Amino acid sequence: MLRVNRLGRTFFAEVVGLDLAKPLDEATFARVKQAHLEHGVLVFRDQRITPAQHIEFSARFGPLQIHPMSQFNLDGAPEILLVSNDTHPDGRPVGIADAGRYWHTDMSYMKEPALGSLLYARAVPAEGGDTLFCDMTAACRDLPDDMRAKLTRLKAVHHFASRWSRESAKYGVRPPQTKEEQDRNPPVEHPMIRTHPETGEPAIYAGGFAVRVQGVPEQESAEILDWVEKWVAQPKYVYRHRWRLHDLVFWDNRRVMHQATEYPVDQRRHMHRTTVKGNAPFGIRGQSPNSSAAKLTELGL
Ligand SMILES: [Fe+2]
Repeated sequence: MLRVNRLGRTFFAEVVGLDLAKPLDEATFARVKQAHLEHGVLVFRDQRITPAQHIEFSARFGPLQIHPMSQFNLDGAPEILLVSNDTHPDGRPVGIADAGRYWHTDMSYMKEPALGSLLYARAVPAEGGDTLFCDMTAACRDLPDDMRAKLTRLKAVHHFASRWSRESAKYGVRPPQTKEEQDRNPPVEHPMIRTHPETGEPAIYAGGFAVRVQGVPEQESAEILDWVEKWVAQPKYVYRHRWRLHDLVFWDNRRVMHQATEYPVDQRRHMHRTTVKGNAPFGIRGQSPNSSAAKLTELGL
């Protein structure tokens, strides 16, 4: 019997009574989908699923995105990205070991970013390696009026290569991207408040791939991004997930941001991730974001 238990204050729930290694009938699938929209993040405990079953379940929510760093995709199943600190016998990293140690929403650097991500724990450290999630819908609802008006009109530029090179320099475990890898994902613009295409709820949309705010001076851009990051990371919007072996966590990238935390380097952490493709983000109806610098100056923003 399927049950859904809310674990966080405003979002995040645990789904009990479901074996994802078995086919889901339409009615059960509809309940899972509804729970996902309602709670933003779902954890399914004690799942024993193969890569094929992981892919099959994920693909019911939409077409899957292949991660652009193809050397970290699972051999024979490129829909699965390896988030792992394992190494090949020659020392090369098996997966992205330092993935996402900053607030972000997955693949926001694409024109049609991720709807959701499904991360499955195949090895977890005894301590650390938690994932933090924050509810950008609740954070958006509470925005001061002046910031809401401002963010509603703004777009941010998201760029994969900028973030990759920054992380590469910081932790020293990522290989630098090739020119071809850098060129594959040119900068894209997204509204800083997007409307959820299924619930209609507005949510802040920014995160670590957002490198600057369009149409404002550089200093102001940095201040806005910094303000947003601090705002969404207030403890009342954050839920910390402590991974257990065989957890599958499915989050809605249109509603939450997430951040990985560190763990002892001598312990294994090996995860499989699939990513469901979403729509091109759009702003609040009737208030489409405007990236014109002149217009923003005119508005005194
Ligand atoms: Fe991520």
